This record gives sequence, structure tokens and C-alpha cells, in this order.
Amino acid sequence: MKESEKRSPFLMACYRKPTAYTPIWLMRQAGRYMKEYRALRKRFSFLEMCKNPELASTVTLLPIEKFKLDAAIIFADILLPLEPMGIELEFTKKEGPIIRHPIREIKQIKTLRAIEPEEDLPFLLEAIRTVRKELNGKIPLIGFSGAPFTLASYIIEGGHSKDYILTKGLMYQDRTAWDDLMKKISEVVIRYLNAQIRAGVQAVQLFDTWAGCLSPNDYEEYVLPYAKKVIERVDRSVPLIHFATSSSAFLEQMKRAGGDVIGVDWRIDLGEAWARIGYNKAIQGNLDPVILLSSPALIEKEVKRILDGAGKRPGHIFNLGHGVLPETPADHVAFLVETVHRYSAR
Ligand code: CP3
Repeated sequence: MKESEKRSPFLMACYRKPTAYTPIWLMRQAGRYMKEYRALRKRFSFLEMCKNPELASTVTLLPIEKFKLDAAIIFADILLPLEPMGIELEFTKKEGPIIRHPIREIKQIKTLRAIEPEEDLPFLLEAIRTVRKELNGKIPLIGFSGAPFTLASYIIEGGHSKDYILTKGLMYQDRTAWDDLMKKISEVVIRYLNAQIRAGVQAVQLFDTWAGCLSPNDYEEYVLPYAKKVIERVDRSVPLIHFATSSSAFLEQMKRAGGDVIGVDWRIDLGEAWARIGYNKAIQGNLDPVILLSSPALIEKEVKRILDGAGKRPGHIFNLGHGVLPETPADHVAFLVETVHRYSAR
């Protein structure tokens, strides 16, 4: 770690080093709850914004200018590698991401390409370099990717799913096709993350957002080997945060898959999650995003409860349990950040 990075409470907490206060950043901190973001979105589509390095870097910095966050996260999406893999992707207003020709058979899986990030996603790497320059060492920049299972679920279902019938169908009924698909996606994730690290991100987060739909046994059998392989092959000169929602049934397995930090949602008590994971890993979380729609008094109460659960041990990064909701008042975000810093000051 560089000297300037040792001054970052976020990076120090990733490595469980003591910090003057608990660092905080928020998943989806640059997004629709900000009027500045909504104004830009009137003029550009989401994908246009992701593919324009100047816009992507501007949006990355919007919440940094407004709030005293301890890290920035690059404005991009877990689904950006799909197009270069050969999968058409659209973002619709109502349904979110849509894949018109989902991948469900072995012959389709065979056509999927591994990506060459420098050629296929140059805009993302350029945005990372621009943001690093603009931040000028003030706070670190986080890169990210979807984890293999979560990406597989979009590729197979064609969008968001309630029951993951098709994803689990492939998993249970055609093991060879499942393994082929997960291998291909894992290679893409490794390349996607390592390219972001080469371009300058100082930490990475692996989002296994939808793995919580699985039984612990299925997580172990069908997902863990791939998550583990990815984590082993990502350049670990930077810390890696391994995040999933509804993960309380397989926290120990997530830990075995790896990562310096385990990210948990609000469905489990943070103190209990940390005790189960073990204090040899850092932990990130875990305010319910809906709390941010309530009142400062309730936000304050919840912040105290979560900080008490962490017990002032080094290695807690405050975050929400999932992304900031579009309905969130921006002044509640400011209040949250201040409250976390104030109550955790040591
Ligand atoms: O955290 C950040 O501020 C960085 C940017 C970021 C986005 N997506 C921007 C985005 C990150 C880290 C993501 C991750 C992501 N994308 C995940 C994993 C985390 C999670 O929230 O579950 C997933 C599953 C996706 C896929 C995705 N992208 C969905 C399901 C949607 C539509 C629904 C939604 O929540 O908006 C998107 C679109 C998207 N990605 C938006 C943003 C700001 C909204 C686009 C818009 O302006 O309409």
C-alpha cells in the first residue's frame, strides 16, 4: 500500500487496521436519488452514460462532492461485460435490464466470448483513470463486478427473476452446461476486475446479489467453486469485498470462497454475522436502505445499533445492506454519513 493509501480509513478497515472512525460508502451512491443524476438522465440513457468516460466520471464524483464519503465507486454496471460476450443488452424504464435472447442451451453457451477489456470496454478504464486523477488521492476508488452466479442468473433468465426457475433448471438438469457457462463467466469476471485494477481502482467488490436464492448445499456445490476461483485469480494487491444479500444461510461458505471483507445485508444482525464469519475478516454493512426513507431519529438509532454490534473492532466498513433506493432524500444520506463518523469517532 502507498503512504497516501495508509491514510484512507476505508482501505485500512479492509485490512482490519485501526482507524479514527468507521469509514462509510454506499452501494448505488451515485444514482437516481440525486437530482443532479436525474437531470443528466433526462439527456442520456443509462448505457450512454456508462459508455461516455466524461459522463461516467462526473457521475462517480457527484456524491463525493456532496457527502463526506470515505470511498468512491466507479459508475458502471455489472452487466457491461455482457455485450462483448455476445449478449444483447437493453435497460428499460420499467423492468430494468432486459436480455432479448437469453442463454439457455449448450450450443448458445459455446458461442459466448471471453472479453478483452482494453478493447471491449475502453470507456470504463478511461473513466477510472479520469476519476483517479480528479480524486487526486483524497479518497480511494472502488471497482466492481457481478459474481458468476448473479451474472448467470441475468444471462439465463433474461432479466430480473422472482424464483430463478430457469437458472436452477439449468443447474439441476444439465450439469455440463452449467459448468461450461460458469467457467466462461468466471473468466470474464477475472479479466473485468483485473483490467479495472490495472486502470487504477484501489479496491474491488464482487456482487453476488442474487445468490441468496440458493440453499447452502447448492451454494457449496454449484457456486462456491467458481466464486473461489475468481477470488484466487483477481490481483490481490488491492482488497476484495465479497457481497451477497440474504446470505445468512451460507456466510461461512462465502468466507471460504474468500475476500478480505464480507458484505452482509440487514436480514442478519451485524454483530452476529461477524462472530460467525470470524474476526479474521473485515465486515461491511448493513443498514436497511428503507431506513433512509424514515426520520433522522430512526436513522441515528439504527446507526448506533449497528456500530454497537461491530463493537469498535477494527475492520467494520459501514454501508447499506443493498443499494440506495431512488426514493431516498439526499439530506438523509448526508445525515447518515455524519452520524456514522460522529458516533464511531475513537
Ligand atoms: O454503486 C454505484 O453507485 C455504482 C454503480 C452501480 C450501478 N449498478 C449503476 C446503476 C453498481 C455498483 C451497480 C451494480 C449492479 N447492477 C448490481 C449489483 C448490486 C445491486 O444493486 O443489486 C445489479 C444486480 C445490477 C444490474 C442492474 N443495473 C439492475 C437490476 C438495474 C435496474 C434496476 C435499478 O436498480 O436501477 C440496473 C440499472 C442501474 N445500474 C442504474 C444505476 C445507477 C439505474 C439506471 C437508471 O438511471 O435508470
